[in-house]
Parts: sequence; C-alpha cells; structure tokens
Amino acid sequence: MVKIRSRNRNKEADIAFVKEGDALLDLFDAQKIKLPFGCRSGSCGACRVKILKGLELLDVRGPTEEDTLRRCQDPEDIRLACQVTLKPGATGEIEVEVAPEVVAPVL
Ligand code: FES
Repeated sequence: MVKIRSRNRNKEADIAFVKEGDALLDLFDAQKIKLPFGCRSGSCGACRVKILKGLELLDVRGPTEEDTLRRCQDPEDIRLACQVTLKPGATGEIEVEVAPEVVAPVL
C-alpha cells in the first residue's frame, strides 16, 4: 500500500489498490484531490509536482517526461504527475506539493 499526501492541498489519501501503469495524477483524481494539469500527455508541464518524500517509490523518468522537465530546467525531485507511475509492488509514503512556477520558458 502506498500512502499519498498532498501538502499544499491539505489532504491525504491512502491508496490501497494501484493498477499497474496508473499515473500519480490518476491516483489523485480518484481521491478527489485536484492537481493542475493540461495535456495529460507529458508535454505542457502544467502538472509538475515536487516529490517531498518517496522519490524511490516512483519509476524513473520516461523520455517524454525527461524532455519536458529538461526544458523546464527542473531538478530530479520534480516530476510530471500525468507521467510518473509507482514502481511495481511499491509500499511506503509519498508526499508531494505542486511545483513552483517554471522560471525558464517551455519551448
Ligand atoms: S498535464 Fe501536461 S505535462 Fe502533465
């Protein structure tokens, strides 16, 4: 089981059942926790979240996420909620907050 906490939304969610491939944004949607989003395909950067805890429970960045976050000049603890998925069999706690505004323009 993975417990997910959204710090700036002041709401916690215990996620007991996670379908393989579910993105973090889908898990938050299922718990009625609103995160900003746009394209849901990894290209706009609107769903950037800062992982405060549990980065090790998440799969590595895929090529689309890597490309978008590189353009935003984001550090490793920033992920795209619409792209990032949990590692299979992950257990523990994840804490996220909506990432600060992008300083560099997204091209
Ligand atoms: S919603 Fe556009 S990158 Fe996630």
